[in-house]
Amino acid sequence: MKAIQVGLLGIGTVGSGTFNVLQRNQEEIKRRAGRGIEITMVADLDTARAQAAVGAGVQVVADARAVIANPDIDIVIELIGGYGIAKQLVLEAIEAGKHVVTANKALLAVHGTEIFAAAHRKGVMVAFEAAVAGGIPIIKALREGLTANRIQWLAGIINGTTNFILSEMRDKGLDFGTVLKQAQALGYAEADPTFDIEGVDAAHKVTLMSAIAFGIPVQFDKAYVEGITQLGAQDIKYAEQLGYRIKLLGIAKRRQADVAKGMADGIELRVHPSLVPAKRLIANVEGAMNAVMVHGDAVGTTLYYGKGAGSEPTASAVIADLVDITRLHTADAAQRVPHLAFQPDAMSDLRVLPMSEVVTSYYLRLSVSDQPGVLAQVTGILAALGISIDAVLQREADEVGGEGATATDLIILTHDTVEGTMNQALTQMQALPTVLAPIVRIRKEELV
Ligand code: HSE
Repeated sequence: MKAIQVGLLGIGTVGSGTFNVLQRNQEEIKRRAGRGIEITMVADLDTARAQAAVGAGVQVVADARAVIANPDIDIVIELIGGYGIAKQLVLEAIEAGKHVVTANKALLAVHGTEIFAAAHRKGVMVAFEAAVAGGIPIIKALREGLTANRIQWLAGIINGTTNFILSEMRDKGLDFGTVLKQAQALGYAEADPTFDIEGVDAAHKVTLMSAIAFGIPVQFDKAYVEGITQLGAQDIKYAEQLGYRIKLLGIAKRRQADVAKGMADGIELRVHPSLVPAKRLIANVEGAMNAVMVHGDAVGTTLYYGKGAGSEPTASAVIADLVDITRLHTADAAQRVPHLAFQPDAMSDLRVLPMSEVVTSYYLRLSVSDQPGVLAQVTGILAALGISIDAVLQREADEVGGEGATATDLIILTHDTVEGTMNQALTQMQALPTVLAPIVRIRKEELV
């Protein structure tokens, strides 16, 4: 059978990886897919660089619309990124009846509802394994491998840049700014690393996973997003002393209503630094690696680990999508795996909960005067609000501030509580004259 023809929009790191892996493994891929898969046309503004990457046998153009307009092209791979022209081109490719493969998590997390609806109308597939956790087949696992399960929660380290920074801060006791500069010098972080360090990239990815896990629409605008820029080296150290590591987690959790506690049902969707017990496997995911834990009612807890970025790891995911589409594109559209795992007319309207309704436990660091009664004042506020303490750590003032210091750090770990209640406690504690600096609050996840 004639090879399936693929057009590639944007040939940077991932595009050239995709081209190279497809060429290198073409025999095996053909045996798996049932027919050959060939990139026959590439669009890139830098045509000379693109031609050098793919060789003379592939047509290179500067205009992406020429690829979409080519009737011989069956699948369009979008590797341009961003929400601007990429969105237009994806919608035009769908309208032209092409299947689309994309690594663009930002685009799908923000405009996924519109894009999947357009694809559904046209009977084409939009595949996005490469958009979440690079080479880890987590979309496939959530959408197909775990399909028997009612998924209760998932939590992932899904941004390699921030995991690299946190690993270096812990290993070397360095502060955030110093490690960020190193990461940029080493080429791990972008020149503008805002989306990574502010948690936005992780929030795009966990938004996509939440839709697949719970059958809700993609709702990036409802996600709570907090990055790692405010994390202090001393909190990483205290967390370690208490048996925890700090990781930037993307969390999606199904919450049952609890009438007695005044809690409604809904979905927690959040990205923030989290204390994770050091003995969990995920706490030991270091450097730029990614990992995702998924808890299903039948399977229990599962863990997926691997490279979340890079040329060939991401190409591995792009090509897996090409193979899936090659196998399925002649099948009746209604019989294919739905884009978001649930049938489009069977999506749930379960609410994404505001952060004030989220339930989690906390690490608090208070800089306090080292004098009698301070601990009682602080714990009195927590007790009055029904917040239960799990552990307390207080350092000698000398140890924290040097010889003769009169202030010390008071570290408190709490049991689960509603975030809104914790906010009240923080306001009250912050108002105490004996609390000398802004209180540091980091959420804690036991992941069981
Ligand atoms: N910027 C991402 C990361 C890689 O640091 O993990 C691509 O998703």
